[in-house]
Amino acid sequence: CGIVGYVGRRDVAPLLLEGLQRLEYRGYDSAGVVITSPKAKTPGLKLAKGKGRVRDLEARVPKRFAGTTGIAHTRWATHGAPSDHNAHPHLDPAEQVAVVHNGIIDNADELRARLTADGVVFASETDTEVLTHLIARAPHETLEDRVRAALGQIEGTYGIAVLHADFPERIVVARNGSPVVLGIGDKEMFVASDVAALVAHTRQIVTLDDGEMATLTADDFRTYTTEGSRTNPETTTVEWEAESYDMGGHDTYMHKEMSEQAEAVDRVLRGRIDERFSTVRLDGLNLDARDARTVRRIKILGCGTSYHAGQIGAQLIEEIARIPADAEPASEFRYRNPVVDPETLYIAVSQSGETYDVLAAVQELKRKGAKVLGFVNVVGSAIARETDGGIYVHAGPEVCVVSTKCFTNTTVAFALLALHLGRIRDLSVADGKRLLEGLRRLPGQIAEILEREDEVQELAKAYAGARSMMFIGRVRGYPVAREASLKLKEVSYVHAEAYPASELKHGPLALIEPALPTVAIVPDDDLLEKNRAAIEEIKAREGRVLAVAHQKQEKADDTYVVPKNEDELDPILMGIPLQLFAYHTALAMGRDIDKPRNLAKSVTVE
Ligand code: G6P
Repeated sequence: CGIVGYVGRRDVAPLLLEGLQRLEYRGYDSAGVVITSPKAKTPGLKLAKGKGRVRDLEARVPKRFAGTTGIAHTRWATHGAPSDHNAHPHLDPAEQVAVVHNGIIDNADELRARLTADGVVFASETDTEVLTHLIARAPHETLEDRVRAALGQIEGTYGIAVLHADFPERIVVARNGSPVVLGIGDKEMFVASDVAALVAHTRQIVTLDDGEMATLTADDFRTYTTEGSRTNPETTTVEWEAESYDMGGHDTYMHKEMSEQAEAVDRVLRGRIDERFSTVRLDGLNLDARDARTVRRIKILGCGTSYHAGQIGAQLIEEIARIPADAEPASEFRYRNPVVDPETLYIAVSQSGETYDVLAAVQELKRKGAKVLGFVNVVGSAIARETDGGIYVHAGPEVCVVSTKCFTNTTVAFALLALHLGRIRDLSVADGKRLLEGLRRLPGQIAEILEREDEVQELAKAYAGARSMMFIGRVRGYPVAREASLKLKEVSYVHAEAYPASELKHGPLALIEPALPTVAIVPDDDLLEKNRAAIEEIKAREGRVLAVAHQKQEKADDTYVVPKNEDELDPILMGIPLQLFAYHTALAMGRDIDKPRNLAKSVTVE
């Protein structure tokens, strides 16, 4: 979900709608806006909300909808189905208080029962409305005290913004587990759940911590804890330009972001290569040579595409640094009471730095005394702040719900870590040099793949009729197959399954028939012959095969030839044509590429 708010002198509704547009990728089954003004002749809140997208909300906003203070929301349903009633903002019956909320209130049912017994009539099924009533009924003078009293009664996660008809010159916000960022303007203040909504107006931001609240007025802001003691927040400057959030001439963000990958990889490498010692410098890692030598295992945690980047990362670390490593979905890890081992280094991977399951895993690990690094794209995000050090992957803003350039940059960041650890441990100068040269070749090779987009488009057209697809790979190729399969599912809704090529004969071979095509990842490495044999097995069952390989595969129906790098680094490149494949399949099927149904960019709830 997305929150945006403004208090200042400008006409607020267009500003909020524009901010919502920029947040729409976070969730989009309904949207709403509430405004007021300290100068209004008749005080009160004006509301427009309903099911649908931001452009539907624009149509709902009445002509005369003037105000200078307001809050708005795009919703991705958690409690209560998408509907006009369940859309935020939520107001109390007297229309004095309005609340927008990201997160989940765990004890909402209990509070709802209590309020209902007291005679409160609910207008929606949401947990947020509970909070609205609690604020409206709090027996306190100031808005801040009322919000504090209400928050004292709830358990769960929230990022909230509150407006009150009696205090039209202010917005009160609070954070616990869901991001809240303040934007400092000139005689105006902004608030949002994501800097994306702020950068068009200001690059001076303050990120709230969990347990922190803030009051915003046009000329000032104050931050304090939920207990009421003042805090001294740090103001930071956002490094990303406002333009980097625009579509820049592409029809979709996905296309734009895929096409930025050569420059993005260049950015993650920049300033980190150390020629003299054939290694890389990772200043933010916060891991000295002694620590690096004593690490016994590495455990990587992430969700979705970031988890897959972690799987490639684990292989890079094992191969290059010879440290046992594996990746696991953070969402699974945190629920299975894992053994936290002092000699294991933990790495949390997240594009947004806000994914709740990853953050919760980090917090649990920290509580148990583990060392946790963050591989994060968004600077200053919750996971970046919660971890002991790490690598910013510098992919630039990623807006499309499905992750492409950040995935690639994260895998490169893992190659950097592997090389760094390897050179502290047993990796030779010669191998260090060889890998550095390989890393330097990546941007040019990525550019070459992107220039050959037509080839992938043709292939996607040729396979677009399939209702289901199989993706196979072996060792280095397997996580590539998994990510390619996820990408196709997410963006085209074509069912896809990824399997280790070696496991085909233990079951999935039964599925093979002409109507189920297979994409085989076939790198030119020591497993080439084994992979060729897998293609033959499929052909023998009349399956159709598209090989993604370093040389034409005679047995396959089609081959896409990927530029060859060093064996260890090949997985970084082999996924890129398959991003394009998913994209063109989705395009041919008329899918909503940047906003696949039922998905959100950043899942800040459990
Ligand atoms: C959501 C998105 C995925 C993403 C995952 C993890 O499910 O739809 O594309 O990979 O979250 O996001 P993160 O920001 O932690 O990398």
